[in-house]
Amino acid sequence: MATRVITHIGELTTNDASLGDGTDLGRLRDAALVMDDDRVLWTGPHARAPAADEMIDAGGAAVVPGFVDSHTHLVFAGERSAEFEARMAGRRYDGGGIGRTVEATRAATRDQLRARTQERVDELRAGGVTTMEIKSGYELTIDGEARLLDVAGEFTDEVTFLGAHVVPDEYARDREAYVNLVAGAMLAACAPRARWADVFCDTGAFNVDEARRILLAARGAGLGLRVHGNQLGDTGGVALAVALDAASVDHCTFVNDLDVDSLAASRTVATLLPGAEFSTRSAYPSARRLLDAGVTVALATDCNPGTSYVTNMALVIALAVREMGMTCDEALWSATRGGAKALRRDDIGHLGVGARADVVVLNAPRAAHLAYRPGGALVTRTFRSRR
Ligand code: NIG
Ligand code: FE
Repeated sequence: MATRVITHIGELTTNDASLGDGTDLGRLRDAALVMDDDRVLWTGPHARAPAADEMIDAGGAAVVPGFVDSHTHLVFAGERSAEFEARMAGRRYDGGGIGRTVEATRAATRDQLRARTQERVDELRAGGVTTMEIKSGYELTIDGEARLLDVAGEFTDEVTFLGAHVVPDEYARDREAYVNLVAGAMLAACAPRARWADVFCDTGAFNVDEARRILLAARGAGLGLRVHGNQLGDTGGVALAVALDAASVDHCTFVNDLDVDSLAASRTVATLLPGAEFSTRSAYPSARRLLDAGVTVALATDCNPGTSYVTNMALVIALAVREMGMTCDEALWSATRGGAKALRRDDIGHLGVGARADVVVLNAPRAAHLAYRPGGALVTRTFRSRR
């Protein structure tokens, strides 16, 4: 396999604490990195860089691990800008618009869904995302959810079954029948197409008992667990996620002290989605509070047409720094290694030897520019491992 070396890296963030400055960021200055099409082979001082088949001169730029976007809803049709406009004019978000996307998605052909998803994947990749999770959740029928998972699976291995997004209109008078469907026949059709199951456990979606039933059934079907929790209120989703050892509980906009302590004592990652607070004009959660308690925090886009039509991880980093109390380094770690932990992956999110060759060259001398220059064109080049 051909090898390549990136030379003259002004600031290399490896996220390998055994390297460089000894911090979690494992940072080296005046560095070089050698990789093949698949893996990182070597990192170290520029002056000692071994030869390789191809040489790329970074010209003093910063290099970081590819972003890991561990929470997206990329497979959908239509758009809901009118809802956004109404919110900006003072209306509150209550999850009610999901039904409109369900209608538009059900009406779309598979080719249309594939084409729209491809555009969103391209946007994420252009911004340096090298791994993304993609959820279903906008058809809410057996065949429809299976179809969405199949489209998602064309773009990533990190596919999540979200049949429990909301109760669809046709089941409005019999919620229990829908919970039975999701935990029964829908799960049976969807489990072979997914790695994860997720439930929107919140006001207006599924309560804790319903969510627990669905998640336990999903675990029984061999899926890993994730939870949308505490986005709209202090509704018990975080506690449920921790009790079930879910890989991640996402949003965490409203958490109590017990939630924070139990997260800190668990393996469950708290995934923060500042695009959602931005787009719903909600108060932001404090990442500082979680980090100071010892919670592992990830950052993701939550790209979806309702609450966060955001495809740019640098913007997510900037919001987390500005609005959630993270340092620039913490936010970068959470958008890379934190996302990997939320997907229970050790092969991505860092640039230690043996990691996947997912590498982003920035148009900046320091990674802090990701937050310092919000909205800028910060990614010069992305290398993605050929799995
Ligand atoms: O993560 N919270 C639930 N699901 C999405 C929103 C979906 C929608 O409004 O279409 C979210 O915010
Ligand atoms: Fe979401």
